[in-house]
Amino acid sequence: MNLPTNPTAQAVDNVLIYIFGFSLLLLLGITVATIYLVIKYRRSKYPEPTSETHGSLWLEALWTLLPTLIVLTMFWYGWSNYLGLRNVPEGAMEVQATARMWSWQFEYPDGRKTSKLFVPVGQPVKVTMTSVDVLHNFFVPAFRIKRDTLPGIETYVWFQATEPGSYDIFCAEYCGTGHSAMITSVEALPPEEYATWAQPQQPSDEPRGLIVLQEQGCTGCHSLDGSDGIGPSLYQLSGQQRKLMADGQTKELTIDADYLRRAIRHPEAEIVEGYDPVMPAYDSDTLSEEDLQAVIDYLLGKVKKAEKAPLDARKLLEDSGCLGCHSEDGSEVIGPTFKGLGNREVVIERDGKEEKIKIDRDYLVRAIKQPKADMVKGYPPIMPAGDYLTDEEIDAIVDHLLKQ
Ligand code: CUA
Repeated sequence: MNLPTNPTAQAVDNVLIYIFGFSLLLLLGITVATIYLVIKYRRSKYPEPTSETHGSLWLEALWTLLPTLIVLTMFWYGWSNYLGLRNVPEGAMEVQATARMWSWQFEYPDGRKTSKLFVPVGQPVKVTMTSVDVLHNFFVPAFRIKRDTLPGIETYVWFQATEPGSYDIFCAEYCGTGHSAMITSVEALPPEEYATWAQPQQPSDEPRGLIVLQEQGCTGCHSLDGSDGIGPSLYQLSGQQRKLMADGQTKELTIDADYLRRAIRHPEAEIVEGYDPVMPAYDSDTLSEEDLQAVIDYLLGKVKKAEKAPLDARKLLEDSGCLGCHSEDGSEVIGPTFKGLGNREVVIERDGKEEKIKIDRDYLVRAIKQPKADMVKGYPPIMPAGDYLTDEEIDAIVDHLLKQ
């Protein structure tokens, strides 16, 4: 077996092996002694009960002191390793974990939230935990850490991943129907990868509603692909018919924004037929009005993709240093001016021959990507290739230039 050399796992394993080792030794010793005595004093040899007891102070002292010492060393060894589990090393990264029926949410110092716990390899991580509803228990078998989470009280654990990888997180305290589904993971990334991940968030391509669903852990119970879970799937909800139980009566309705709002704010009021009334209510403290609206819009298919801020072509030109050689006002610098570029004809040198062309999109894309291929006559071939630009950025720049 390949035991992990992880600090918390090591502490627990050491004590386990120590106690288990002595227990095994005692078990073997007692079993051997029992068998020996059973054979030695068997009935055929001693048909009548006899008394052959002799007092031995030495023997009695030995079998009292020895086990006492063994048990005390077990206590000492267990206690010192337990302290290691409770004393968080300095420089630990702090993460706040929130447990709810039936999902985990992790919040990082910069405010970002995830439903998986992302950590860098090699750095201690302190997870401070609480619950918003009932008792749960944060259990990561790979790191041998396990701690209750309680509503209104903070508990903590720490661990340090020594190998990149994905490690299961379970809830180890029965907390209702979805208990067994309350699973997520520690994602341990190499430090460089973690640094990239932890960079100030770039505007995500994902719709806000989807991000909220993931942050709030909704997807732990409600699938997004139509598969069945603890709750109904959230796949293509718009216009679907639902049979609901409300006040002991069945009713049917078409899913719309009002229904979704009620189902999130007061899920206990109307229960979809065939499901248990187990969803916790998301009040405005947990889920802001704005986020609720984003979720509803997303669920009803009103948003496909978040709108991206348009690329600022002028800024790209400036940042890439283009304006150092190409003026915008018609003056000659090192390269041709950008002014009036959209309807200019130029003479270029291609394969040693001169050619007159009208400047268009294709030409400009080429001129940025491989400036030395078609040089405008009369200019030195010194422009560097803009191959560090993405296609999108080049498109934006070309659009911008054609309008000059
Ligand atoms: Cu949460 Cu079991």
